[in-house]
Amino acid sequence: MTAIGTLRNTTKDTLREVLTRLQTEGAALGHFNVADHVLLKAVIAAASETKLPVFVGASEGEREFFGAHQLAALVKSLRQELDVPVFLNADHTHSLAKAVEAANAGFDSVGIDFSALPFNENVARTKEAVQAIKAVNPAILAEGEIGNIGTGSEIHETAGGDFKLSTPEEARQFVEATGIDILAPAVGNMHGMLKSMVQGKAKKHLNIERISEIKQAAGTFMTLHGGSGTDDEHFRKAIAAGINIIHINTELRVAWRESLGESLARDADDVVPYKILRPVVDSVKKVVSSRLRLFHGQPVSSDAVGSVA
Ligand code: G3H
Ligand code: ZN
Repeated sequence: MTAIGTLRNTTKDTLREVLTRLQTEGAALGHFNVADHVLLKAVIAAASETKLPVFVGASEGEREFFGAHQLAALVKSLRQELDVPVFLNADHTHSLAKAVEAANAGFDSVGIDFSALPFNENVARTKEAVQAIKAVNPAILAEGEIGNIGTGSEIHETAGGDFKLSTPEEARQFVEATGIDILAPAVGNMHGMLKSMVQGKAKKHLNIERISEIKQAAGTFMTLHGGSGTDDEHFRKAIAAGINIIHINTELRVAWRESLGESLARDADDVVPYKILRPVVDSVKKVVSSRLRLFHGQPVSSDAVGSVA
């Protein structure tokens, strides 16, 4: 069952076509996670404002809160009013059942994530999920993940963990053995933000040379997870080196929480949800628009993501 069809946009572009076009243009598709309608409205408003394509993502936890079918139906409805492509990704999917559920709900892609398992098991489970979702919808794109970049789009005290870089050889083997369309490697990226990053005192740095080597070996589209708090120049270089999709979540969550707090504090007697929540949408939209512009080589001011500082 493809509950909402193949989810083609009013622009009639498929996700594969948009990724191919952006790659030739030296740009990347911005992927932004949503857990509620406020975040979704903000991401859609940013796409509308910038006139740039956007990738809406929801992890298993976010889908559970939102409802996978409900999110897909909302995205389908919203994209009909937009003249830029909007796609939907089932981010960080850790089971075959959840991957198939997302495919049935009409998601454009599934981020299959068995990266916590030993390499051979990751290969076997990812391959099985790729075949299952493509049996539901042959047009769906499958992403597979290798390496450890930590978990949780949250604020962390320390980086922790053993974040070894993925190698070109494991990338080549993984792509060949699983049949994935998109590879998410570990290239110096990390999920979430350190407190110092939220305060704007530190930035994530990527291994650009390794991105180039993996791109050459894998020959697929590539996703950069854990984008929040990354140095702008490293984003630009990573795109030039072969990154096609960039995931941002924590920056949105920080903006969401800060602006919600401010909005609630403004008037203790205000009980009108759409008055309280409108500034939250605006604040998250600012972050998304700024990141989108950066990923498309447009100028952004250095404090553009200032609401997270
Ligand atoms: O899949 C989502 C992300 O990789 C987002 O990571 O919270 O560090 O931006 P982030
Ligand atoms: Zn991620």
